[in-house]
Amino acid sequence: MSTWDNLRPVKTSLTGIKPTHLPHLGNYLGAIRPALSLVEEYRTLYFIADYHALTSVREAAALRGYIRDVAATWLACGLDPDRTLLYRQSDVPQVFELTWVLSCLLATGQLERGHAYKDAVARGEAPSAGLFNYPVLMAADILLYDTDVVPVGKDQKQHLELTRDVAQRLNHVYGEGTLVVPEALISEAPLVPGTDGEKMSKSRGNGIPLFAPPKKLRKVIMGIKTTSETLEDPKAAEGSTVYELYALVAPDRAPEMKKQLEAGGYGWGHAKQDLYEAIEAELGPKREAYLDIRADEPRLDAILHAGADRARAIADHTMARVRHAVGIE
Ligand code: ADP
Ligand code: TRP
Repeated sequence: MSTWDNLRPVKTSLTGIKPTHLPHLGNYLGAIRPALSLVEEYRTLYFIADYHALTSVREAAALRGYIRDVAATWLACGLDPDRTLLYRQSDVPQVFELTWVLSCLLATGQLERGHAYKDAVARGEAPSAGLFNYPVLMAADILLYDTDVVPVGKDQKQHLELTRDVAQRLNHVYGEGTLVVPEALISEAPLVPGTDGEKMSKSRGNGIPLFAPPKKLRKVIMGIKTTSETLEDPKAAEGSTVYELYALVAPDRAPEMKKQLEAGGYGWGHAKQDLYEAIEAELGPKREAYLDIRADEPRLDAILHAGADRARAIADHTMARVRHAVGIE
């Protein structure tokens, strides 16, 4: 029996990762690192939400690449496939069966209130039915695996509320205990600023790439916006992007940088060099692991398939319960 199976009696934590871009430092500090730390306490399932990505990615070759980039990133950052089920959403088609059952219990009004859908309408776009139904597929992702907790960012809170609602409704209509009602584990991780000081985000183009070559990484860090004091001037550490990033990457050494900035005689260039070195120390070894894992697609796919085999076994149990409860079987 593997370590993962031995973990059965503990609570289950599950989260989905949309393969829409190459992960950046904000994803690492805000999502990957905190999610990996849950492995000690929970039975963990992490999946690549490839069908969800179809609401935004329209290029097949790009999606194919992102799916593996993201999986390899999590593995390189320390996800141990013997302790965590890592799989692709699309490898567990039962999720669509459950999506249908759940959609029959949801009022369209509740989906019309969805943030992503409402925002798209407000921008004057004509959102797809996929975007409209996105939260139902997400609820099925979660409920299919008897999930107890779902670690997510604040932006996903509404989706979790809908997931709980629909699970409670199904249990109420068809029998208590049919589905496990999950809880959101909203991340307390601070928002990571990008090179322009705003929230680091793919769409803003202010990201610090996770696994770019050292030269490129250094260039991006040297480009972080700073104020324009001279080398000698004392500088405010708090509120500066360079210091904030340093405090997230190297919290033990942050007081030292703060002292140096506030004393003067230590320029932004020095601070950026120290930040670069701290990031390189944290990410350098992971970059090597990433390049190895990413280069071996057959091995990577085998890991994802092994995860999916075990995920499908859980999904089959849940669907047997659901089909019986609703009267299909
Ligand atoms: P982006 O905003 O760049 O498109 P995603 O939406 O793919 O990133 O985010 C994936 C995960 O990374 C989410 O859980 C989100 O909370 C986290 N995340 C993204 N950007 C940041 C950031 N700047 N600071 C902290 N966490 C972030
Ligand atoms: N909607 C999530 C996001 O945009 C991704 C996701 C899909 C997810 N299914 C999930 C997250 C299930 C947690 C649980 O980041």
